[in-house]
Amino acid sequence: MAKIGIFFGTESGRTKLVARYIAKSLGDAASAPVDIGHATLADFLAHDALILGSPTHGGGQLPERSTSACPPSWQTFLAQLAGADLSGKVAAIYGVGDQKKYPGAFVDAIAVIQDTLLARGARVVGRWPTSGYDFSASQAVDDGHFLGLALDQENQPGLTGQRVESWLALVRPALLP
Ligand SMILES: Cc1cc2nc3c(=O)[nH]c(=O)nc-3n(C[C@H](O)[C@H](O)[C@H](O)COP(=O)(O)O)c2cc1C
Repeated sequence: MAKIGIFFGTESGRTKLVARYIAKSLGDAASAPVDIGHATLADFLAHDALILGSPTHGGGQLPERSTSACPPSWQTFLAQLAGADLSGKVAAIYGVGDQKKYPGAFVDAIAVIQDTLLARGARVVGRWPTSGYDFSASQAVDDGHFLGLALDQENQPGLTGQRVESWLALVRPALLP
């Protein structure tokens, strides 16, 4: 069975840490996490099931869904996906942000990544309830749910393990049918 590909972008390492946690939890079902800054398009396209992680670094000052909400490594990679056909692929996205310092743009990067995936024909799974967070706005919210898993390592690090485990239980059947 093909393994789940885990790709992450990061500026200060927190999103990478979560990628490692996810990989450990999935065991043999997932490949080792790859920094999207080092990934080739071929690496990415080799997987039919994907878990993608990104911090948000926009600070809420940017126009709607600017790719600048993602770290430069994701911005470059998303641009490369412009001509790719992702139909048949299924992806789950997690975002790492800071709801206290950036309450008006919490985990916006999830939306940016989802937009690109959907535009290229992929299916995105793993919506997550907004209860238990304290923020004012996020482009990554639709109908009372985040478009992927929202994590806050600055303010709620103690909840990350439990959130990741519950989210993986939710997305696993879609990623590994
Ligand atoms: C300059 C800057 C801008 C940020 N902007 C946002 C933001 O708009 N929304 C958000 O949720 N978090 C924002 N953050 C918080 C980061 O996403 C958070 O610290 C995250 O844990 C960093 O992950 P990383 O270590 O993988 O880079 C910002 C952080 C910095 C330093």
